[in-house]
This record gives sequence, structure tokens and C-alpha cells, in this order.
Amino acid sequence: MQTARYRHIFIRIGLAFLILHSLPFAIWAMHSGALVLVSPDLSDNRFYTPGGTVTNIAIFAHMSLGALLMVFVPLQFWPGLRTRFTTYHRWSGRLLCVGSAAVGLAGLAYIFVRGTIGGLWMDLGFGVYGVLVCLCAGQAIRYARRRDFAVHRRWALRVLVLTFGSWLYRLHYGIWYFFTDGLASTPDFDGTFDLVQNFAFYLPYLLLLELWLRREPRRA
Ligand code: HEM
Repeated sequence: MQTARYRHIFIRIGLAFLILHSLPFAIWAMHSGALVLVSPDLSDNRFYTPGGTVTNIAIFAHMSLGALLMVFVPLQFWPGLRTRFTTYHRWSGRLLCVGSAAVGLAGLAYIFVRGTIGGLWMDLGFGVYGVLVCLCAGQAIRYARRRDFAVHRRWALRVLVLTFGSWLYRLHYGIWYFFTDGLASTPDFDGTFDLVQNFAFYLPYLLLLELWLRREPRRA
């Protein structure tokens, strides 16, 4: 009983830490996405495609929706919230899974139509990232509907890790530039650090999660 209480306190602190630390990025992403609605001239914006209404809506909505995911996905794991507010958990869970898939699909559409700034390897890294986001969100909702909540939780945890990939990508760059002044990183994103980064913002974290999940049954 006492252990469960400490575990819940620990999880709450962890989630609050995650939300608060990624909040500046989420606010910036929300603002970047909202520009399409408020800015009279976007011709200088590198994500803007002249005449590409669908592409523009997709990439700018992607930014704002992604920002919302970073605040609301962690709340799904807030201890006590699910049991006390089951209807909220269900409906927000459905919306967040659909939202995650929409963010992933919009990112994939942008890669397909415009391609990323870093070229082939960045297309590949972000492409796999987008496919994984869609897959995990789909599986999370699928297992919840089957009422297999143990498996549902695992897929939902993968969605959580992937949701923060976008922020981790920027965090890695911030730390790297702080300590090395941008060693092996170029404006065209084709330096060694940039190439590693294309996969390093989600794959190692997913791997760590898998290792942690593997320990769970034994612990139980
Ligand atoms: C979940 C949270 C996400 C947030 C908050 C987010 C936010 C953003 C933001 C703000 C940008 C503009 C970046 C800049 O100005 O430099 C961007 C670009 C982009 N995002 Fe996301 N994103 C998320 C998830 C994803 C996912 C799942 C994919 C998967 C395909 C993706 C693919 C892309 C691509 C391809 C670009 C353009 C890259 C470039 O050429 O510079 N994003 N995103």
C-alpha cells in the first residue's frame, strides 16, 4: 500500500517534470502552427507551400496538434485520473490516438510532398517515426476496445515516448550545441551528428522502454 503511494507520487513528479520542461517547446510549436491562421503573409516561412492549401493546412495543423499532444498525452497516465474520471480517460484517449495518427500522417504527407530540409536520411528517420506514431496510436486504441488493458497500456506508453520525440530532437540539439558549438552538424543537416539525430530522438528511448517492459512480468 505504502509502496503504491510512493510509486504514484514518483509518477506524478515525473509527468509534471516532463510537461513543464517541454512546455516552452509546446507553446512555440502551437504558435508556429497558429501562424497560418493569423499571419497575413507566410511567403518567408519555409514550411509554407504557395498554392498548396492542403499541404499548408497539414503541416501547420501538425505543429499545433503536436503541441496539444505533449500536454494531454502525459495526463492519460496521471495516477488516479483514469480510475476517478473514466469517461474523461476514454474520450480523451480516443481523441489523442486519432490526434497522434493525424500528426503522424500530416508529417508523412509533408515528407512525401515537400521532403525534409535534411534530405533522404532525414526523410527516412522522420518517416519511420511517423509510421511508428500511427502504429502505436492505432494499437493503443485497438487493445482498449478489446478490453485488453495490459497490452493497451504498453502501446499507450510507446505513444507517450514517441510524443516527446519531437521535443527530444530539439533538446539533443540544444545540449549538443551548448557543449560542442555544433560539432559535426551543418546547416543542411548532413553532418554526422545530424545523421545520427535522425533516429536518435526516438529509437533509443523506445528501446529503453521495451527493456523496462520486459522486466515487468518477472517483477510481477
Ligand atoms: C508529437 C509532437 C510533434 C510536434 C509538437 C511537432 C512539431 C513540429 C514543428 C514545430 C515543426 C516545425 C519545426 C521548425 O520550425 O524547425 C515540425 C516539423 C516537422 N515535423 Fe513535426 N511535430 C511532432 C510530431 C511529428 C511526427 C510524429 C512526425 C512524423 C512524420 C513529424 C514530422 C515532421 C516533419 C517531416 C517536419 C518538417 C521537417 C523539416 O523539413 O524541417 N513531426 N514539427
